Amino acid sequence: MAPAAAEHGLTLAIPISKPYFGPEEREAILAPLESGWVVQGPFVAEFERQFAAFTGSPFAAATTSCTTALHLAVACLGLQPGDEVIVPAFTWVATANVVEHMGATPVFCDIDLRTFNIDVMQMQSVITARTVGVIPVHLFGLCAPIDAIVAAAARHGLWVVEDAACGFGATLGGRHAGTFGDIGCFSFHPRKAITTGEGGMVTTRSAEADRLVRCLRDHGASRTDLARHTGHAGYLLPEYDHAGYNYRMTDLQGALGCAQMNRAAWLLEQRRRVACVYDQLLARFEWLERPATPAGYGHGYQSYACLFSPERPSLENVERLHARRNQLMDRLEHRGIATRQGTHAPVLTGYYARKYGLRPEHFPSAILADRLSLSLPMYAQLTDSDLHQVCEALGDAIDA
Ligand SMILES: Cc1ncc(COP(=O)(O)O)c(C=O)c1O
Repeated sequence: MAPAAAEHGLTLAIPISKPYFGPEEREAILAPLESGWVVQGPFVAEFERQFAAFTGSPFAAATTSCTTALHLAVACLGLQPGDEVIVPAFTWVATANVVEHMGATPVFCDIDLRTFNIDVMQMQSVITARTVGVIPVHLFGLCAPIDAIVAAAARHGLWVVEDAACGFGATLGGRHAGTFGDIGCFSFHPRKAITTGEGGMVTTRSAEADRLVRCLRDHGASRTDLARHTGHAGYLLPEYDHAGYNYRMTDLQGALGCAQMNRAAWLLEQRRRVACVYDQLLARFEWLERPATPAGYGHGYQSYACLFSPERPSLENVERLHARRNQLMDRLEHRGIATRQGTHAPVLTGYYARKYGLRPEHFPSAILADRLSLSLPMYAQLTDSDLHQVCEALGDAIDA
């Protein structure tokens, strides 16, 4: 196996995740190769159409990643240097980085340890006169309390960008993640339910925001390359009213995305099946808190993220429990089973801790989540026998 695959733990018998590709995906990517049109084109447009229909979003525009989708979202909303944007203290660092890249200030807010998502009360307590928006994250496939967040944001005149990187298949009240706020941003990295290798999507109900996102992702062009090369007067470049970026998804990825969308409902169903078996098999382990799905929420299970809590965790005992969790993960790795920490707390990373003088005691739940979260293998191909093997290994490892 290639060294990169070994690095990502793909050599383990049960990896943390595995994309599902069939003959349809192989077939799909041949079409742009054969047509010769491999940059953003008709397959990206079709992928966008399918994604919008699936999520119930009026508009969807593809990008190169969720990070670039988030960047386009905050640029489109006019984020300025000196502005403040509230982000959860437990999320992938990209959520905060896009704010930082605009010269604005990410203001971290603690989470609810039960759901790993932003705490709405705390969110409201960090709003200042400089706050312009909030980026709640639908972590691990569970919606943040997005209805309450949107209502609170509206009361304070703030915009809401949903970081739905992990939110494919996540719903609240039957409504899909990414359709509540001003803009939603999705990821198609291979650890997500559907993948295009790298890739992202911007959803919105605003025709104006969609137009601006499409323009900014394409260097600020007022006309797409496809329209120019297939229409009249293709020899002339269009108008460029904005200093844009090149965040265009390729048509190879667009074609792959279409094939993945065709099996999206099945892929999500398989993830829910896996979660259901884990729920049953892990119920006997009092030391492991399983993912919560509060009433009214539909879980997409991007990850099956648990909390290692053999005793009530606190900032006093967290490092001791952290060492035990890591030892457990190490034992599983030796048995060919990959696990991962859920995600990280950017407030603990060198850059943010140094720049903003952040201290763990201000974000206790995020710190506990960073040190004690434990994600188990999650992908459609996992069999009951695999799942029994994972849970048996967990039992053995804790007893050892
Ligand atoms: C919460 C969150 N936001 C943003 C991202 C960035 O997504 P991408 O890798 O597509 O840029 C990730 C990646 O997993 C994520 O988990």
